[in-house]
Amino acid sequence: MAGVRLTASGLALGYAAGPVITGVDLSLAPGDRVAFVGASGTGKTTLLHGLAGLLAPQSGEVAADGAVVASPGGPCTSRHAAYMFQRPLLLPWKTARENAALAATVARPAPDRHATSPIERWALAQAEEHLVEFGLGDFLDAYPHELSGGMCQRVALARTLILGRGLVLLDEPFASLDVLTRGDLQVWLREVMDRHPATWVLVTHDIREAVLLADRVAVLGGRPAGITGWVETAGDAAQAVAESEGLLRATVTGGAAPRVGATHTRRPVL
Ligand SMILES: Nc1ncnc2c1ncn2[C@@H]1O[C@H](COP(=O)(O)OP(=O)(O)O)[C@@H](O)[C@H]1O
Ligand SMILES: [Mg+2]
Repeated sequence: MAGVRLTASGLALGYAAGPVITGVDLSLAPGDRVAFVGASGTGKTTLLHGLAGLLAPQSGEVAADGAVVASPGGPCTSRHAAYMFQRPLLLPWKTARENAALAATVARPAPDRHATSPIERWALAQAEEHLVEFGLGDFLDAYPHELSGGMCQRVALARTLILGRGLVLLDEPFASLDVLTRGDLQVWLREVMDRHPATWVLVTHDIREAVLLADRVAVLGGRPAGITGWVETAGDAAQAVAESEGLLRATVTGGAAPRVGATHTRRPVL
């Protein structure tokens, strides 16, 4: 699958205490790779939940391939998306293979809950295929406590990808890892993205990670937060990092937030 067309218009998200995200307009073509960067507490996870249909918008809407998937008082569904949470959230009593199979057995209607039911057999086979692809063929029957942090994240990504959804949402996938492992996994993830065509949306506070993995970087800032600028990553990566950093710094230090399409952005994106 080449990925879903994802749009958001006038998207505002928040909680009882007040709005967190406001006025987000987004138009992603199938196969696009976009990263949102923002300081801690800006609302990155909140935005990702909104795009995933896990949190109903306060206003505006999200649509996947033209169908509204989240709107206030309307539908709020996650069938278009596969979501990888910030922590791997593996069940300690299940093996790597069982953990990787988990989402697929839950998300698809199982004929029965028996261990040898066709859906579970299918999910376990899919899990094995992905774990072998991810270099974990020798750890299929290992338990989470026997795996390193980087291995756990790879199992979590396998669990996400076997859902076969056209939109993959990653919430700071490597934030909890040491710097060397994180660097290795960032390069590894880029290769995985090449092999698994989908519309990929990543949120991170790590600008280099964003530039490495995405074609476009959106900077989130303000309170409530909105998109303060876009940076294209094609071409000179160091330049893209510097531009993103400048935009982010402006939002964090309370400097005038640059307009979308301001001079920081090499070409207007939306
Ligand atoms: N479930 C929730 N209920 C109430 N407030 C929340 C909830 N989740 C996050 N928030 C608040 O929303 C703001 C943005 O949080 P979050 O989206 O987690 O930011 P980030 O992912 O950028 O660190 C924070 O002020 C946080 O306290
Ligand atoms: Mg977060």
